[in-house]
Amino acid sequence: MRIVLLGPPGSGKGTQAALLKDRLGVPHISTGDLLRAAVAAGTPLGLKAKAAMDAGELVSDELMLSLIEERMGEADVAPGYLLDGYPRNLAQAQALDELLERIGQPVQKALELKVDEEQIVDRLARRAEEEGRSDDTEEVVRKRLAVYAAQNAPVAGYYAERGLLVEIEGVGSVESINQRLVDALG
Ligand code: AP5
Ligand code: MG
Repeated sequence: MRIVLLGPPGSGKGTQAALLKDRLGVPHISTGDLLRAAVAAGTPLGLKAKAAMDAGELVSDELMLSLIEERMGEADVAPGYLLDGYPRNLAQAQALDELLERIGQPVQKALELKVDEEQIVDRLARRAEEEGRSDDTEEVVRKRLAVYAAQNAPVAGYYAERGLLVEIEGVGSVESINQRLVDALG
């Protein structure tokens, strides 16, 4: 299956993708995880991306497209993919469609996790204590939410226009949300 997971910071994209990938037998491709690995390894990409990530802003579309292009070229993508964190604005959605068309792997479904802002702030404050992710400070979380509202939210409309969007209530136990996603995939 070829799936795009949408939803604000802290909506559970990574948590749900970790469960779904085994069930579906496709790789979980998280651009945030790829970027954090690049930052940790000190690669040229990591060095370029770090400032934007720490500020809660988007890394440039050019860098992201080359990153996703390289990842989608790997062999494990043959049975499909579970994309998490990409696309994040309309330009990325269009670029992704062109890329996926070219490799014959178009998106089949976009699943959007809906979680209200108060719950997100609570979840990420907890994760800040537990994991210390550098962009989980209250100030940067607010910035990430604002960037999401301005840039990422229209991406759901992009997939809705193509008849691919399914909205999922993202509040409740991890297992119950996973079941909703599985049901939505049919
Ligand atoms: P990215 O890593 O994608 O971060 P994000 O979108 O802000 O999302 P998170 O990873 O914080 O949340 P999530 O939805 O995965 O939730 P999770 O499952 O972890 O991006 C980071 C940065 O990289 C961006 O800000 C940007 O700078 C850059 N970037 C990445 N992609 C880019 C792109 N395409 N273009 C440009 N820049 C890009 O859950 C959150 C927490 O809640 C966890 O602690 C979890 O345990 C908990 N939780 C999960 N489910 C539940 C539940 N049901 N109930 C209670 N708690 C729960
Ligand atoms: Mg994540």
